[in-house]
Amino acid sequence: MRVVEVSAPATIANLGPGFDIVGLAIEGFRDIVRLELREDNKIEFELVNNTGVEISEEPEKNSAVVSALKVMEYLGVRRGFRMNLTKNVPVGIGLGSSGASSAAAAYAMNTILGGKLPMELLVKLAAEGERAACGSPHLDNVAPALYGGFTMILDVEKPVIFNIKPSVDFSIVLVTPKVYLPKNKTEYARSLLPKNVSLELMTKQQASLARLIIGIMRGDLEMMGEAISRDYVVEPARSIMIPSFHKIKEHALKSGALGFSISGAGPSVFAITYPEKAENLLKEIISKFEENNVEARGIITKPSTLGAAIKNLE
Ligand code: HSE
Repeated sequence: MRVVEVSAPATIANLGPGFDIVGLAIEGFRDIVRLELREDNKIEFELVNNTGVEISEEPEKNSAVVSALKVMEYLGVRRGFRMNLTKNVPVGIGLGSSGASSAAAAYAMNTILGGKLPMELLVKLAAEGERAACGSPHLDNVAPALYGGFTMILDVEKPVIFNIKPSVDFSIVLVTPKVYLPKNKTEYARSLLPKNVSLELMTKQQASLARLIIGIMRGDLEMMGEAISRDYVVEPARSIMIPSFHKIKEHALKSGALGFSISGAGPSVFAITYPEKAENLLKEIISKFEENNVEARGIITKPSTLGAAIKNLE
């Protein structure tokens, strides 16, 4: 195979208490990587940017190119390539944009070089691509972007990934407030986090994470929702990024949200709900933001069971 085209979805990381561990692929936005090997050693990179946000076109600064190079390096291959990246996943709003590009690129490069590497290794290599884009190689965006559905990181170093597809239908209401944040938003959002937590807090957070995982495994939306709303460590530290966060959360939970938290490193917020309640919930969250003088826009989406997906070209 000389040319491949691979797409990978946007993702919601953390899902409340699952900081850096739990993630979910969602429908609505997919980045697309078209990759072709060259006979020489040159790297050509072309960007089709549909996000409305400026993205560097320098190959070495792009998470997709870096991920593809990591896969080559791991396989001991040195070849030039031409990569065309179509960016559809919104940038800098907490939807794992660089993770989607990294996942698609790692998957594409592995496929074009014979598909030898296991998915868990691709997660690790794609996360190295993410490091190029946002400074820290966390796995909770690239894993669901590669596998689809929910992913849980069971071993961060190796890594070991557990993947489960949602067994019940639910909607995700995703709202992005218009706020101004430093350019390297993820790094900034991570700098807000406490370096240490007390044993008491750790116990509470572990209980929430257990609740989240059991909720996901049982397909119990109420249990999942309650867990999503109970992040005692990350959300309190990051809520300062989102004006009126606590009022919005309280209102969302009264307006049909089963669970509400910050999506990834923010500033988007998300709620899970029953499909028939989603439209009203979206309206309520946006109007509550506006009532508090914050412009916001949002969408209704759902989990994507499809992770990185290939389309053979030649
Ligand atoms: N788990 C990461 C964080 C996701 O919350 O910082 C960033 O996209």
